[in-house]
Amino acid sequence: MKIQLCYASTRNNESEDLLQDLNDILTVARDFNSRNEICGVLYYADGSFFQCLQGSEHVVKQLFESICKDKRHHQIIGFDTTEIAETNFKDWSMKYVQRNSEINKFFKKMNFKIFSPAQLDENSLPIFLNHLYDADQTNIKPQRVGMNNRGVNKYL
Ligand SMILES: Cc1cc2nc3c(=O)[nH]c(=O)nc-3n(C[C@H](O)[C@H](O)[C@H](O)COP(=O)(O)O)c2cc1C
Repeated sequence: MKIQLCYASTRNNESEDLLQDLNDILTVARDFNSRNEICGVLYYADGSFFQCLQGSEHVVKQLFESICKDKRHHQIIGFDTTEIAETNFKDWSMKYVQRNSEINKFFKKMNFKIFSPAQLDENSLPIFLNHLYDADQTNIKPQRVGMNNRGVNKYL
């Protein structure tokens, strides 16, 4: 049985190198997920993560347990797990999407002052997922240009 599992969480260590963190997470995720037929999408903004994982029930649930123990985030709030016939993110072992104008419009309409994915509900979650599906994938490049610029990216 294939399932979809989505959760929201809060990033730890705001002062650390965000781009390096995202790059590390995506490297491990893409390697493990592609070997285990898991796919999905990760979104980060305003100190919060949103992730959708799709794949075989036991693999996704086991992975989620390990993600929950990860010290890079906390306050993990899972949405209802749903059974799915097809994995619609199958082109991406883990797609990464950065904030864009369509997503900004969507959150503005929802009256979100900042990105707070825990406030998504059963109506808004599928719409957000559609935006993430349609969005272009963002490539993360950690910047190694001295201490002052570590992880600074005005779009994140
Ligand atoms: C927000 C976030 C999302 C993550 N997504 C994945 C993922 O999709 N796949 C994956 O294998 N690891 C993911 N990780 C990393 C795992 O939490 C963990 O580091 C990895 O499974 C290795 O665990 P281990 O050191 O216990 O083997 C994610 C971590 C964070 C903080």
